[in-house]
Amino acid sequence: MRKIQFFDTTLRDGEQTPGVNFNTKEKVQIALQLEKWGIDTIEAGFPISSEGDFEAVQAIAGAASRMTVAGLARCQKKDIDRAYEALKEAKFPQIHVFLATSDVHMEYKLKMTPEEVLTSIKEHVTYARERFEKVQFSPEDATRTRKEFLLKAVQTAIDAGATIINIPDTVGYTNPTEYGQLFAYLIENIKTEQEITFSSHCHDDLGMATANALAAIENGANRVEGTVNGIGERAGNTALEEVAVALHIRQDYYQATSGISLNETKRTSDIVARLSGVAVPRNKAVIGANAFAHESGIHQDGVLKNPETYEIITPQLVGVKNNSLPLGKLSGRHAFVTKLEELGYQLSEEEIKPAFKRFKDLADKKKQITDQDLIALMADETRAEADTARLTGLQVQYVSGGRQGAIVSVEQQGESGVASAIGSGSIQAIYNSIDQIFEQQPKLVNYEIMALTAGEDAQAEVHVSVECPQTHKRINGIGVDFDVLEASAKAYVQASSILKKETEG
Ligand code: KIV
Ligand code: ZN
Repeated sequence: MRKIQFFDTTLRDGEQTPGVNFNTKEKVQIALQLEKWGIDTIEAGFPISSEGDFEAVQAIAGAASRMTVAGLARCQKKDIDRAYEALKEAKFPQIHVFLATSDVHMEYKLKMTPEEVLTSIKEHVTYARERFEKVQFSPEDATRTRKEFLLKAVQTAIDAGATIINIPDTVGYTNPTEYGQLFAYLIENIKTEQEITFSSHCHDDLGMATANALAAIENGANRVEGTVNGIGERAGNTALEEVAVALHIRQDYYQATSGISLNETKRTSDIVARLSGVAVPRNKAVIGANAFAHESGIHQDGVLKNPETYEIITPQLVGVKNNSLPLGKLSGRHAFVTKLEELGYQLSEEEIKPAFKRFKDLADKKKQITDQDLIALMADETRAEADTARLTGLQVQYVSGGRQGAIVSVEQQGESGVASAIGSGSIQAIYNSIDQIFEQQPKLVNYEIMALTAGEDAQAEVHVSVECPQTHKRINGIGVDFDVLEASAKAYVQASSILKKETEG
């Protein structure tokens, strides 16, 4: 049985999802959950890209105890130096150097000849190898690169000291047959005495990211790159949970295992969905809410007679629980902290107090506090600590068939702002007021409302995305509350305050 390594890039490629913007604390929280899930290597960020990314990579390097921590770098010495600085404290550091090799990228983006590209790979992989024991090289846009040139680029990187070769399907262009053949070709033609790890990295533009990753594995790749819930640039990346479960369920076929603890899958997915603001579609493979729902009479009848008739994955396998021990009004601090630890949150004494108070406030309104409620509550805490603004008051005047009015107050770092406005609907009146407070007029590009859990006392969960009309920077916000208007206001305040910060630098 081969063991496939899992490389998670949720915090790097995943953060390239429009609207996703994790703060350092959120990144560390996700990283620790990924470690618990069984990820072998985490790509913690792109240290040269911003101070925030550098700081987050550094924090994750200090926090991870078992997994390798990687940082991304272009073929530039300053990028490699910055990654080296950020990863100094990591127990197991790794650098990921990339350079595009397709004709279209070399000619139009890099404005470099193929010979110059090979020279740059040689120079920068050598430079990286002088600083890192583990060097990964990616020929960007590999699947649209001429095969013979791709082989030359990969051979150059190996000769310069790279021992991990990642083959990115940067634009999601390939298909399983072709991608599998590419791995077979490279593996057969590379000349080296070194043991090389071949890795897949796929994007989902044509809906084939998971199939492509599995085809790579079938053809000799022993590492797979991807993200939790498949988030990422455009249509996203390979969803790692899908690959992990496919390898498990079809072990008979793939003859491969992974170090992923499958029963941590749902929790990992929930945390990433919550902190990214990207909800998991109901019909999403493996972790979607409908993944285990059997609707038709024939299916239900079959499942009742023998679950194996229609169920290849059980909810238990991926850690979907029935909330056998939900918390409630009478739960004490100890039960609360224990449950949070189970969910992957390690709170300091000072952090427990406000979180427990918010839990008690919630328990006064809701009979059973589920894992989903707690994850939402904790995400709110993390955002509040990160200096994002908080909604402190909301008053709405509703007139049937008329103009609606709203008064909103917001607090941020001890300063408060109040504004009132009208709109043709209550939400518009609220959002107009919030725009006045932040003195900006972002475009509302997404507004979704859903129930956080099942049941009549479910909280409303509102997802919004706002976009700055000048920079096109997009930010997601989430608001959770019993009241739909309050949840809508919270989501918009969160997104607006992050957008304000981002656009003001
Ligand atoms: O998709 C891609 O090409 C990438 C590289 C940086 C590996 O994400
Ligand atoms: Zn990518």
